[in-house]
Amino acid sequence: MARCFVTRRLPGAALERLGEAHDVEVWPLRLPPGPGELASCLAGAEGLISMLTDPIGIVLLDRAPGLRAIANYAVGVDNVDVAEATRRGIPVGNTPDVLTETTADFAFALLLAAARRVVEADAAARRDWVTWEPAALLGAEVHGATLGIVGRGRIGSAVARRAEGFGMLVLHSGRSGGEPLDELLAASDFVSIHCPLSSETIGLIGERELRLMKASAILVNTARGAIVDGAALAWALEEGWIAGAALDVTDPEPPPPGDPLLSAPNLVLAPHIASASRRARAAMADMAVDNLLAALAGERMPHCVNPEVYE
Ligand code: DGY
Repeated sequence: MARCFVTRRLPGAALERLGEAHDVEVWPLRLPPGPGELASCLAGAEGLISMLTDPIGIVLLDRAPGLRAIANYAVGVDNVDVAEATRRGIPVGNTPDVLTETTADFAFALLLAAARRVVEADAAARRDWVTWEPAALLGAEVHGATLGIVGRGRIGSAVARRAEGFGMLVLHSGRSGGEPLDELLAASDFVSIHCPLSSETIGLIGERELRLMKASAILVNTARGAIVDGAALAWALEEGWIAGAALDVTDPEPPPPGDPLLSAPNLVLAPHIASASRRARAAMADMAVDNLLAALAGERMPHCVNPEVYE
């Protein structure tokens, strides 16, 4: 029986399975453990289920010398220093596939909400709906528009399938080819970000890129906040370089009080919930537990982002 630490309560019954095999401690609070608390909780732990809100770096790993496996409860692993984990022979797991369609649904929900001003419309309907008006709350057409997808991996491809149903022209740009990013930005009515956060994509969409976009365009980000320069985006929205944005992710999360994004016009904001369907979040918990159980049993993690640890 190994000691395992889970940095947040998880939906579904997966942690019960982990508890049948191992000694499991779950962080009980709504806010995540701070670095010192996480280090204390990891003293003596062999297994960790971490969230995207837990930075797992060298300092923490030094304080958790017994750690044998990290199962991240997310498909993105940018919160984990994977190279350092690999150097220490620690497999790092993630939760791909089970959230792909769910996240694509939400990216499309944000796109539609921003285009057709759904959030503003809800507030207006409650506040001052006195009659039908020919020119009230006019928005952008979605059907027939051009959608530029940045990073056409699993989730980007799932968004593209939805766009086809709306009769959209889909462009894509990413590591595997497609349009040059600048051309995609200049040609798209909607730009949706779906690349992982890495040293190549941090700040990928900054002032220069936003100025390349159409004044009528809408930017959607359900990937990672740091891919978009938030200050430049707030400026773009204030000055009308682009027409709107819809963000499920920001950097940091949440935006601190006074962050210019919070007062920027034409912005729909969600608290990083693109994968938050009951089914997807429970499936992610199952996958994280499967990863941890396998690693602690000395087997390969079914979904491992650094399989070189097994070589
Ligand atoms: C992920 O999995 O990386 C999402 O951002 C959270 O589900």
